[in-house]
Amino acid sequence: METSAFFTLISTSLMYLIFPGRTETFNQVIDPVHTELKWAGLFLAAHKYFDVDRRRGNSLSWKYDPRVFHKHFPMPRLRSLHPQVNEACHQGVMACVREIASKAQESPSIADTDEELKKAALALPDTIPAFYPLTSDLELFQYRTTASYFMCWYTMRREELLMNYMGEKPCLENLNKVKEKIWADMTVTEYRTGSYAFPWRCAEIQFCPDPCYGRRTEGNVPSASALREDKGNPCRHLKDRTCKWVPDENTDLESLQRNMFNITCACHKEKPGFRWSSRYKLCVDIDECTESNVECEENRICQNSVGSFACVCRMGNKFDSQKKLCVEHVPLPAHSFHRSSKVRVVKQKTALRRFLEYVFGLRESPKP
Ligand SMILES: *[C@@H]1O[C@H](CO)[C@@H](O)[C@H](O)[C@H]1NC(C)=O
Repeated sequence: METSAFFTLISTSLMYLIFPGRTETFNQVIDPVHTELKWAGLFLAAHKYFDVDRRRGNSLSWKYDPRVFHKHFPMPRLRSLHPQVNEACHQGVMACVREIASKAQESPSIADTDEELKKAALALPDTIPAFYPLTSDLELFQYRTTASYFMCWYTMRREELLMNYMGEKPCLENLNKVKEKIWADMTVTEYRTGSYAFPWRCAEIQFCPDPCYGRRTEGNVPSASALREDKGNPCRHLKDRTCKWVPDENTDLESLQRNMFNITCACHKEKPGFRWSSRYKLCVDIDECTESNVECEENRICQNSVGSFACVCRMGNKFDSQKKLCVEHVPLPAHSFHRSSKVRVVKQKTALRRFLEYVFGLRESPKP
């Protein structure tokens, strides 16, 4: 009795010590990361939605160029990655987020979107250029494009750190308060919010291109029906217009930079045995024989056909409908020799008969 009371006392005090402590530490770790992610996310979303390709045209005109960057984002590929982001991001997702957030929080781009940032910005002289803390517009462009490559890559690798940092808020909350918006002269409506149903949604929207939706509408996806009708949706010609990213097949950093995303449409609902090809951008027949290890019975081989496959008799075998089996064929040469000699005899017979008929005056010519 005494021992059990002792244990209860110990375990309760342990629970008391461990649990509140643990949740606090958890929040102490995760809250600042979520704040950093919100800054980094907005800083990169401002680039994705409102930036123009600064490598083109002269530095005076770019502000007034149409916002076509989003359509091909992040193409064309950078010739060289920004060294600082590249280095930090190769160390891991945490180092990558830290690096991007450190630039983001100093940048005038997102200064008006957060009380804390606003206060910090007021301490700076107001002659700070838009590319601050980087050294030029071009460098800012290179920095944010590189950062997007890596952050999208981490999103595709389903890093837990990037889960649900927007909570239930809209993924593009505050996008309309970023500096770039002033000269972009457009509003982006993205109805999808950070949701517990799909924890990486906001990371995808903020860091990645939109191979499924929004490319033709400058990122405007105001509702679920707009999402299906979207002109940039590769699956829009099918009965079921759902377009999805292929899980685990978008994890190659090199391909991400080339914008070679693997998406999929519901081709099997259209035609059974068909599948979406990201390469050809249409539904193609699945070769079941090479892909799904079809095992055929003895003497049979797998033959692919449109939408399906069949196990057919191997060459030199014939289907015996009584035995319901593929059986070896009677060897060909002996058989054909036998038949051709018979044919020859018949031919000779008829020639002789024709000759005799001629001789006896029944025919006018010995030839047929
Ligand atoms: C998409 O799939 C192809 C073929 O499997 C692969 O080579 C490519 O790296 C994938 N793309 C991404 C972004 O991982």
